[in-house]
Amino acid sequence: MRTREKRAWAEPFKIKMVEPLRVTTRDERARALAEAGWNTFLLHSEDVYLDLLTDSGTNAMSDRQWAGMMVGDEAYAGSANFYRLEAKVREAYGYRHVVPTHQGRGAEHLLSRLWIKPGDRVPGNMYFTTTRLHQELAGGVFVDVIIDEAHDPNSLHPFKGNVDLAKLEAVIREHGASRVPYVSVAATVNMAGGQPISLENLRATRALCQRHGIKVVLDATRAIENAWFIARREPGHAGESLADILREMCGLTDACTMSAKKDLLVNIGGFLALDDDASFEEARNMVVVYEGLHTYGGLAGRDMEAMTLGIDEARDEAHMTARIGQVHYVAEALAAEGIPIVQPTGGHAVFLDAARFLPHLPRSAHPAQTLAAELYLESGIRAMERGVVSAGRDPVTGHNHEPKLELVRLTFPRRVYTQAHCDVLVEAVCEVWDRRHEIPGLDMVYEPKYLRFFQARFEPRRKAAEAVSLGG
Ligand code: F0G
Repeated sequence: MRTREKRAWAEPFKIKMVEPLRVTTRDERARALAEAGWNTFLLHSEDVYLDLLTDSGTNAMSDRQWAGMMVGDEAYAGSANFYRLEAKVREAYGYRHVVPTHQGRGAEHLLSRLWIKPGDRVPGNMYFTTTRLHQELAGGVFVDVIIDEAHDPNSLHPFKGNVDLAKLEAVIREHGASRVPYVSVAATVNMAGGQPISLENLRATRALCQRHGIKVVLDATRAIENAWFIARREPGHAGESLADILREMCGLTDACTMSAKKDLLVNIGGFLALDDDASFEEARNMVVVYEGLHTYGGLAGRDMEAMTLGIDEARDEAHMTARIGQVHYVAEALAAEGIPIVQPTGGHAVFLDAARFLPHLPRSAHPAQTLAAELYLESGIRAMERGVVSAGRDPVTGHNHEPKLELVRLTFPRRVYTQAHCDVLVEAVCEVWDRRHEIPGLDMVYEPKYLRFFQARFEPRRKAAEAVSLGG
């Protein structure tokens, strides 16, 4: 029986090229961590064994994608690869116009400048770091309208990415529809644990917005993963193809921003896609200033070709089942060991609940940052903080945002690691769990102004007893 279960998500590919991994000693890791200011973003990747920092740009491309790289048309203007990408995005996502960008935040930047006026409110199903920052830099104020269950790591709601329509209506009532240019809907919701939104909820969100003349923007970065959850969990959609569900999702929105570095199985790339002609004209004009000509948007022709091929590979059922199957394999193994993780498991990552993992640490000791650092020290495995450090500060008051979730993200690059690597990961987390009571926490000693989690530096807190004996 178990064998058959594994077969259900066994990798639908074999490995043709390998990249050696370096195993470090604990002393080497302690030194590397101190040099990196206890921030896993500042580690050198050569000092990392399994890199679970992100699934962004870390995917293994297929032989077909690599072959596609060889037919890059590196023309400054009018690259053949752009026209193939444009046709494929139209077919797969359904929007009429496509503006390539170097990655997701390039598209977020264009869209935010295009549609947000100073003082506008931009409701969204939980924030994402770069998305919110671009909204704020354009003068907007992000308002969280995700359902309450998304903030509860124990809620088993199948669609924790859903928009709370009552919260959305309240924002519209309070500020007026004219101050709400669009609702920003992510599928899946990264910061909530890779949780999907249901088609039913997206449809209802669309209907509400239409009544008020408000647009809906999809963050389609992991929308094909979202489609997989809809096919598995949403009544009436069993057996529907990922391609059809994706089209249906996009059809309920006016535009999408895309970081192709996730779903689309490439190392770099993104796009803005939209229907409105006038907005497209403006975006196409603006992209020249910030990214590059509208037929390459900061990308090489070969990057666009790899992205085009990635769109087909990502919509393949067997691929997506293996991709999400691997994530769920690790989640089940960790849960079986009693490790606190966010439930239910989302699409791209397993999220450790650092608040429950290290309950003796106050928020000010950065529990998730600490846990990510300790996991690296233990095993050379690199994860990412997704808690109070990532949440940053309110731009007006300067106070720390206090997100309900304090998480460490174990993010799975697509088609990169094996099941044995997954088992090593579970062992490593268990080893940190066994000595969790001795872990002292971290103080932030350097804080950059924007997206602080990338470059902040930390130092271990002195243990309480030591602090007392030193009069601290
Ligand atoms: N939207 C979502 C939902 C994302 O997860 C990301 C990136 C972006 C937008 C921005 O795209 O990086 O191409 O500019 N997420 C990465 C991560 C960084 O690790 O989750 P980008």
